[in-house]
Amino acid sequence: MYTQKVMDHFTNPRNMGEIENASGVGTVGNAKCGDIMRIYLDIDPDGIINDVKFKTFGCGAAVATSSMATELVKGKTVQEALQVTNKAVMEALDGLPPVKVHCSLLAEEAIHAALWDYAEKNGIKIEGLQKPKSDIHEEEEEVEY
Ligand code: FES
Repeated sequence: MYTQKVMDHFTNPRNMGEIENASGVGTVGNAKCGDIMRIYLDIDPDGIINDVKFKTFGCGAAVATSSMATELVKGKTVQEALQVTNKAVMEALDGLPPVKVHCSLLAEEAIHAALWDYAEKNGIKIEGLQKPKSDIHEEEEEVEY
């Protein structure tokens, strides 16, 4: 059901933890499954993401997507981090089962929420970034179980 990469990032998650006095923190949840993800960003004055950590209270796919998402944004500029969509995270993991696609949306939204927090704290506007929702399940397509 899961690819090797998903299993690897689930059993050996990268960048788990938190950053004290982070430049930006974003928390999003999905009220339907009850999972919560928090991303911490440490961004230097040049707008480069020096460090990133995550805490996820959620399913294995949520842990794996958080881990991969942090790997994808580390060392990137704020603008590059914006391009890290849930699709990019899923591709980097060699795919997710269809019922687990929503887990990767948490990762995308948590990064956006952390970037939004960073922008607000610094009184700047990040081109192309919209105010993230704290609960993403409203945007999901209905899934038949
Ligand atoms: Fe909800 Fe994975 S089941 S985030």
